Amino acid sequence: MPYVRASNAKAIAAAPAPKVSARAFAEPDAAQLSPAALPVPTGATKEQIVLGERIFHGKAAGGTCSGCHGSDARGGAQAPSLVSGHFFMGDGSLKAITTTIVEGVPRPHDYEVPMPPKGGASLSDADVAAVAAYVWAIGHVGGK
Ligand code: HEC
Repeated sequence: MPYVRASNAKAIAAAPAPKVSARAFAEPDAAQLSPAALPVPTGATKEQIVLGERIFHGKAAGGTCSGCHGSDARGGAQAPSLVSGHFFMGDGSLKAITTTIVEGVPRPHDYEVPMPPKGGASLSDADVAAVAAYVWAIGHVGGK
């Protein structure tokens, strides 16, 4: 969890409000979450999003993600929503999401059971890159 020092907090407070803050974030609906409709993060491809969706739902590479985060990724008893538009691990960048997936979450903030590295599956680097791109996309699609 990034710790915001007082000096940083002051700098953040002084910064002009980003333009996006005017745009209300709305939870994406099922159509927005379909792989074909999802945005593609810089440095990733549509093919990765499509593969990532399959890994997330356990249809490829033995992915486990939906078991805890829910089949619609809206969270459940074991893990938080990934479509809320907020990432508390890091800054929500593709890089930060990738790191979280690789390392897991050994000490969750709000849940009892840790997220194991790669969700406990033996994902290749290519699998991790694909599912990270998918998670980035579903986390950034909200807002109309
Ligand atoms: C055993 C249950 C479990 C599995 C399986 C699992 N996760 Fe998680 N995940 C968690 C928990 C618990 C957290 C941390 C919640 C907290 O800190 O309160 C988490 C956090 C995350 C986060 C950080 C969310 C944020 O707000 O920054 C991402 C991204 C994530 N998981 C993606 C995945 C992906 C992708 C997979 C599949 C490869 C996966 N998870 C599999 C339980 C799981």
